[in-house]
This record gives sequence, C-alpha cells and structure tokens, in this order.
Amino acid sequence: MVKRKVSGDNGNVTKSIPVAHQLSDLEISEVRSKLLAWYDANKRDLPWRKQASNPDINQRAYAVWVSEIMLQQTQVATVINYYNKWMKKWPTLQDLASASLEEVNEMWSGLGYYSRGRRLFEGAKKVVDELDGEMPKDADSLLKHLPGVGKYTAGAIASIAYNQCTGLVDGNVIRVLSRLRMIGADSTSQPVIDALWSLANAVVDKERPGDFNQSLMELGATVCTPKSPDCAACPLRNNCKAYAKVEQQRIKNSEKLTSIASEKNAVIDIECLADQCSLCLPDMETYDDSAGVTNYPRKGKKRAPREERTAVCVLCRKTPTDEEFLIRQRPEKGLLAGLWEFPSKLLVGEGESLPYSDVLIEHGVEVLYATKKIRCGEVVHIFSHIHQTYDVEGVIAGDSDIQEDTENRDQARYRWVTRQQFSEAAVSTAMRKVFKAFESATNPKTPSSKDSKLTKLKPKEDKNQKSIASFFKPKTTA
Ligand code: ADE
Repeated sequence: MVKRKVSGDNGNVTKSIPVAHQLSDLEISEVRSKLLAWYDANKRDLPWRKQASNPDINQRAYAVWVSEIMLQQTQVATVINYYNKWMKKWPTLQDLASASLEEVNEMWSGLGYYSRGRRLFEGAKKVVDELDGEMPKDADSLLKHLPGVGKYTAGAIASIAYNQCTGLVDGNVIRVLSRLRMIGADSTSQPVIDALWSLANAVVDKERPGDFNQSLMELGATVCTPKSPDCAACPLRNNCKAYAKVEQQRIKNSEKLTSIASEKNAVIDIECLADQCSLCLPDMETYDDSAGVTNYPRKGKKRAPREERTAVCVLCRKTPTDEEFLIRQRPEKGLLAGLWEFPSKLLVGEGESLPYSDVLIEHGVEVLYATKKIRCGEVVHIFSHIHQTYDVEGVIAGDSDIQEDTENRDQARYRWVTRQQFSEAAVSTAMRKVFKAFESATNPKTPSSKDSKLTKLKPKEDKNQKSIASFFKPKTTA
C-alpha cells in the first residue's frame, strides 16, 4: 500500500491514508485559495456571522456556540429566527445562565432535539458559576469543560471565535471531502471518520481557519449538496476526484459512440491502487454511473426506527369566558424531557386503541359528561429513532363536569392553558401537530398544517358520552 504524508503547513500528519485519498501540498494550497475566494464572493449573510467582529472574545464564543448548537440537525433557514430571538432574550452568557430551564425549553419549542437547548443552558451556568465567566479558550478545553460540546462544536468555536487553526467535520464536510478524495466506504466507520478529520485538519487555512471551515460547510450546504450537486458552479471541480471520475466516464462513453479512443484521455490517475482500502467503495461494482458524484459519501445501513403508537386526549374545558386545555409535563429525563404535552398513554398491543377515559385515568382525570367527543385522526411524527403515531381524540366538557385527583398526582406537572398560553408553552412540534389535528376536527374551517403528516380519519362524533364510574384512588386522610 502506497502511503505518504499529508502535512499542508499545519504540521498535521495523516499517517494512514492511502495516496489516492490524500491531498498533496499543492492541492491543499489550491483548495484553500479557491474556497476562500469563493466564500468571500458567495457567503450567505447570516446573523451569527455579524458577531465574528465583536471585540469581546467571550461574546464571540457565546454567539458561535449558540449558532452551532442550533445548526446541528437543523436547517439554516429554520435556525435564523430562533437564533435572533434567543440572542435578543439572552444577549450574553450571564443572561442565559440566569434563565430557567422552562424558559429555555419554551424558546427551543419547535427546533427539536431538546437536549441541545438544555445542555447549552447548563454550559452557560457552568461557565458563569465555575469558570469565572470565561469561556475555555481552545478546542481541547471547550471539549473537556462544556456539556453538549463535541469535537465538531469545539472546532467550530475555536476556529471561528478564536482563530485557532483547527479543522472540523460535520455532515457537509463529510460530503465535500468524500467527493474530493473519492472516499466511498461507510462514512460512519472509524477509518473513514479518522481520515476525514485528518484531511480537515491538514487542509484548514492557517490564516483564516474560521472562514475556511465555514466555506467548506457553506459549499456542502449550497453547491455540493446531497442529491443534486451543482458541479458546474463548484470552485473545487478541478480538484475533485469524484468529478474527475464522472468526466472520465463521459469521455469514455462519447469515444464509444464515435469509436475514437484517445490515448490522452484514457488514463487519469484517480482510482485507489491500495489493496483492500478501508476508504474506498467496498466494491467498485457498487458504483452507480447514473449517480455521478453522489456515489460519495456512502452511509452505513440505518437501523429501522422503532414503531410506537400513543393514545392522546386533547381535553378542552369550557369556562364561562374561555376554553382551556389540560397539559402535563414530561419527566426530566428521556425523550422530550421536561416538555409539555396532552395527556397521553403509550399503546402496547398492536393495532390497539384506547377510549379517552382510559388515557385520562392515567392522569387522574374523570370527565363526568362530555359535551363533545371527537376522533381527530392519526398524527405521525418521526423522531430520530422512533416512528411515532399519535391516535388523537378530542373531548370538550364543561368546567363542572371534569374532576381531577389533585391529591394523588404530581400537581406541579399539570396545567390548564388557554390557546395563547399553549402557543407560548414549551411544547414539542409533535404536540403542536396534535393540536392542529384537534382544531381541524372540531372546527373543520381551520386549515390543517401542510407540514403535518396527518392522516385524517373520518371524525365520529358522540354527544351521548355517559358518565364513567369513578376511578379515583381513595383520598388519603392525613
Ligand atoms: N453549518 C453549521 N455551521 C455552519 C456555519 N458556521 N456556516 C455554514 N454552515 C454551517
């Protein structure tokens, strides 16, 4: 196996990368200058980039930290609004450290992966309470001291806010570098991860590391996209091995058509000659000509998400002046920790469904008489590892027809909220979809959300709901 050093001028050494997947010193300097020139001309005007010139180093680091945490698993277009609102409410680390988790969850509502917000908040408290308000000042110490900060985020904060010459690897960088060097083995495998970090550290520009890292990510987000890359607009086209392979194939095909085989075009040294290379497509036979550069990168097989079904009851109580909805707070640990939701019960049997009264029993509620009860259909929400189907039932009852076992349940975790309060509460996107399903079933004029994967069942109304036998546990007499 032929190996040589990739050193750039950062002093980084990629020990075990086969030659075909390395970047030579000349290529490194070309990639740097082309990419930075492209970035200067094409970068998006994003709010967190305005903070890069803030003279206060802690402020710069905080601003980058917030943006990078929000940008994990979330599109830039979605993040912009959340970021602006967040920075307006908590402009400094100290402001964030004095917030409450409830406020943080409210602010994060709809962004998904809620532990990100919680960890950011815990990190800010740690910096203020334990580190004298000073952010750790390099990638290694960021990684060591801040909860929720992994290798990627540490590299982003250190390079963008501190100008530390350190590379980073996120989904966009994986794609750009894998195509650039034809790395087609499973991008979640250790040899590929190690090779990508080595390449990222070798190629990062030492004068402008933050801009360079952002330019790699920007290229991946806007040009070198997963499904429809715009190779014609790519500044790295002439350094890209995946592109060279496509061109080689195109020339071969046109020569076949015209029966003129040209010696000159026949050999372009892009393939890897190493035996059993751990970075190559496992078998070049799996290369799909019609997919072009999108043959790279390749992901390992994902585990199928777990199927779950949950019965949900949207209970609306009519007061003389308003309508209120019962919500309850999820436990502090686990999925959607600390967020509020409608009373729910996980269904265990296949195809099982539950009457709302059974769901409410779990939450210490009895409805003596329902003025309206309506099936609102199924709402599907995909969490990273769970394919969740909510079977939604709406119940409307008068104030005096609802009894609550306030002594035997954790009362602090239950609240009645108006529509307005619900819209401002720390509620997950899934529960907002559930509420939309309720609103459109009870008031068919309400437009249902386009983004909700809602399967509408024919609503069946039953105004003759009978009182159910009391199920309250005997009250303790203390
Ligand atoms: N994706 C995540 N962080 C980014 C950044 N700072 N610039 C461009 N894309 C990104």
